[in-house]
Amino acid sequence: MISHSRPTLDDSDRKAVLSVLESGHLVQGEQVARFEKELTTFIGTKNGVAVSSGTAALHLSLLGLEVGPGDEVIFPTFVCSALLQAVSYVGATPVLADIDPRTFNIDVVDLKKRVTKKTKAIIVPHMFGLPADMEEILSLGIPVIEDCAQAIGAKYGSARVGSLGKVSIFSFYATKMLATGEGGMVLSDDEDLLERVRDLRDYDEREDHLLRFNYKMTDMQAALGVSQLKKLPLFIWRRREIAESFNRCLDGESALPPVAPPGREHVYYRYVALLDDESAPFIDEMRKKGVDCRRPVFKPLHRYLNLSDYPVAEDVWRRSVSIPLYPSMMNGERRHITDHLQALLARKGR
Ligand SMILES: Cc1ncc(COP(=O)(O)O)c(C=O)c1O
Repeated sequence: MISHSRPTLDDSDRKAVLSVLESGHLVQGEQVARFEKELTTFIGTKNGVAVSSGTAALHLSLLGLEVGPGDEVIFPTFVCSALLQAVSYVGATPVLADIDPRTFNIDVVDLKKRVTKKTKAIIVPHMFGLPADMEEILSLGIPVIEDCAQAIGAKYGSARVGSLGKVSIFSFYATKMLATGEGGMVLSDDEDLLERVRDLRDYDEREDHLLRFNYKMTDMQAALGVSQLKKLPLFIWRRREIAESFNRCLDGESALPPVAPPGREHVYYRYVALLDDESAPFIDEMRKKGVDCRRPVFKPLHRYLNLSDYPVAEDVWRRSVSIPLYPSMMNGERRHITDHLQALLARKGR
């Protein structure tokens, strides 16, 4: 079976982790400081704070923005449940927005309808590697947390995503654009906000008592992050190359390829196609051929909250499919996938 996702690791990654083990300094040391500095420079913000996961980064960003009970936070329904968890951790009210049917990102028209006096922040994930419509969203004047968990390296105009909002978060989970096993980071130009985040990630040796966390990153993770970041341009190049070969197989009628509106660069964290019909039979067929395709989102979040009124997300959930794509995919695996994509879509078209 060609797995749905897989990290891309080599000898330089192994050496980086081993050198930390040999140094004897395992947590929040030199390597963490180096990873913070290098990712910050790459993205184009003033500073960054490394944490233990993307969810921890979301949690601390919300606390950094002083979001709490009585505040509303808007985010799209078609995304992983980490966002709902983080908003719930701080006791704020989640307000879900529908999505754009072609970009799968938050629908700005629907978002605007859901803004109230209580809206304290908007979380904007750049879904599957494609930047969301930042200009329109930023023009609302509400603090934006850019969620770059799936889009490290993607560009909006000449800027990298993660440098546009008030604060941005990253995930380095095992199969993300950069893999450190688990890991995350909060980036911002706002030093006061980052100082609050820095204060909250560690509980030890404090004069006062405040609700703080153990959200530290290890140096093994950070060394892996530094090593992976060096290869990110190559990873993105390879992802694009594979995406282009998948694009050529989709006929545009029974299956639409992902889009990238002008001025936005897709990094293809996921290759999400939109079928003209329910995707479950397609996923079953591909699995029978040894290709582990999946639904790109396990369940839209409005279903957890028993809400309706999300027609686009419901329709996209029903018809979308994520086809395996990662830099470590061998050319033989890629060919196996394109052969079966072509055969399946040709049969469908008949
Ligand atoms: C858009 C998005 N945000 C946040 C997260 C949470 O990241 P982590 O798994 O590192 O906690 C994920 C994880 O899949 C994600 O896809």
